[in-house]
Amino acid sequence: MPWRSALLVLVIAIFIISGFFEAEPQTPQTTAKYGTEALYVSAADKPGDASADVEIIAHCGANHVFDEHTLTADKIASKAEADSIEIDLRMTKDHELIAFHDTTLDCTATEAVAPKEFRRSEIKQFDTATMFGQETYKDSVTTLDEIFAAFGQEAHYYMETRLVDGDTKMEEPLINLLQENNLLDPKYVSIQSFSKESLQKIQEFAPEIRTTLLYETDKFDLEDALEADADVIGIESRNVTQDVVDALQQEGIEVHVFFTEERTELIEQQRVIMYGVDGVFTDDIDFTRQVMKQ
Ligand code: G3P
Ligand code: CA
Repeated sequence: MPWRSALLVLVIAIFIISGFFEAEPQTPQTTAKYGTEALYVSAADKPGDASADVEIIAHCGANHVFDEHTLTADKIASKAEADSIEIDLRMTKDHELIAFHDTTLDCTATEAVAPKEFRRSEIKQFDTATMFGQETYKDSVTTLDEIFAAFGQEAHYYMETRLVDGDTKMEEPLINLLQENNLLDPKYVSIQSFSKESLQKIQEFAPEIRTTLLYETDKFDLEDALEADADVIGIESRNVTQDVVDALQQEGIEVHVFFTEERTELIEQQRVIMYGVDGVFTDDIDFTRQVMKQ
C-alpha cells in the first residue's frame, strides 16, 4: 500500500534527522549549518590523543571578550592561560609598532583613521570601544612596548609582521625592541607572516626565532608549503585536511590553523584538532580548551 511506504519513509526520515541533530556539538553556534565532514568527525577517527599538545593562540588577544588587541584583551587571554598572545603589527608614521589588525582604526576604534598617517602620540589619543549589553568599554590603541612592559617574560608573543608600503620596514625595529626587552628568544616569541620576504628578513636578523608562513585561503599550495623555509605553516581551516596535516608533519613542519568565518569556527576547531594540528588561532580560548579535553 502506498500510504504504508510513505509512513515507513517518514519514520526513517525522523530517525535520520534526530540522529543528525544529536551529532551536533553543544556550543553557542550550534544553529549554524556545518559541513557534513565536520559533523561526523569523532575521536575514533584519529588514534591516540590527537588534541594533547595543541598550542592555544589567543587570536588578537581574548577578542571574544573584549576589543581586539587592547591591553585588556591581552590580559584576559593571559589570565585564561592561553599559550600565546597573537599580535598583528602595524607601523605609525614615526615608525613605532602598534598592535592593530586593520588598515584603518574604524574597525575597533572610535575614529576612522589610518595608523600609518599618525604619530604614536596621536594614535594614543584614539580610543577603541566595545559594547557589552548597554555598557560601552573603552581602551586605548596599544603600542608594542606597552604590551612588553605589561607582560615581560610572562607571555609568549606570536607576532604577525607585514610589508609596509611594499617593503620590509618593520622587521629590524621589531627585533631591536625584542632585544631591548630581553625577549629575543623562542621561549617568548614566534613570528608569523603572509610575506615570505618579511620572514626571510626576520631569519637574517634572528635565525633562532621560530617562523610561521601563513597562506591566504585561496593561495594555499601544499607543495609550496613543503618547500618553504619556515618551522610552521599557518593555514585557514577550510584548507585543512588530514592528508595536508600528515604531509607537513611528516616533514617536521608544524601546522597552525586560523579561522575566518565566525559562523563555523567552533565546529572547524573541533575538526582540525581531531586531525592532530599543532596550534589554533582561537577566538574562544575556553572553547578550545574544552575541545582538547574531549
Ligand atoms: O595570524 C593568523 C591569522 O590571524 C591570519 O589572518 O587576517 O586574522 O591576521 P588575520
Ligand atoms: Ca593575525
